[in-house]
Amino acid sequence: MKLFIDTANVEHIREMADLGIIAGVTTNPTLIAKEGRDFNEVIKEITSIVDGPISGEVISLEAEGMVKEGIEIAKIHKNMIVKIPMTEQGIKATRQLTALGIRTNVTLVFSVNQALLAATAGATYVSPFVGRLEDTLHDGIQVVSEIRDVFDIYGFDTEIISASIRTVKQLADSALVGAHVATVPYPILKKAFTHPLTDKGIEAFMNDWENTFGKK
Ligand code: E4P
Repeated sequence: MKLFIDTANVEHIREMADLGIIAGVTTNPTLIAKEGRDFNEVIKEITSIVDGPISGEVISLEAEGMVKEGIEIAKIHKNMIVKIPMTEQGIKATRQLTALGIRTNVTLVFSVNQALLAATAGATYVSPFVGRLEDTLHDGIQVVSEIRDVFDIYGFDTEIISASIRTVKQLADSALVGAHVATVPYPILKKAFTHPLTDKGIEAFMNDWENTFGKK
């Protein structure tokens, strides 16, 4: 499973990219607004940090506007993926952008049927929102798992991005059920590096070394 970072914060993206673990980035209107910066400027900066798929979302609600915006987003950089909401108009736009050779990420997916419709329209990625499903006491990981089963049975090339990740367990479970990608917020990525036994183990190794050989 590849790891994307789910943020528009360039410092956080740079830090994780420097560690060599980031294969791509997802943004959405909320994340861009949080940074309070111009969309094109932030996106361009992100493309200069990460050489992988970067999702930028349209804000139009009608297919025609989505396609127009999508064409502009795709022009920003060869790595751009046009993020489109999972609506009838979104699916229409996905089909049209796919026909133009523009890659898409159908977002706000909460069911197997929505994922199936997006894949049928030629979406490059679908993003089931695990955290938001689990916020409402639904099993988000099971939805990811079932989407994977359906894509495998019917041979869809569409990749699943496990999104709206809120916990390290959701990250691990996404990998276990076969999400192709997990897009993970910065604090959860930081947490995923750690384990109390790792810290304890390092401390014991250092103490044993120093007790025998002295300080470095
Ligand atoms: C997906 O690409 C979205 O940007 C994101 O995962 C949404 O997460 P949220 O539910 O934490 O807003």
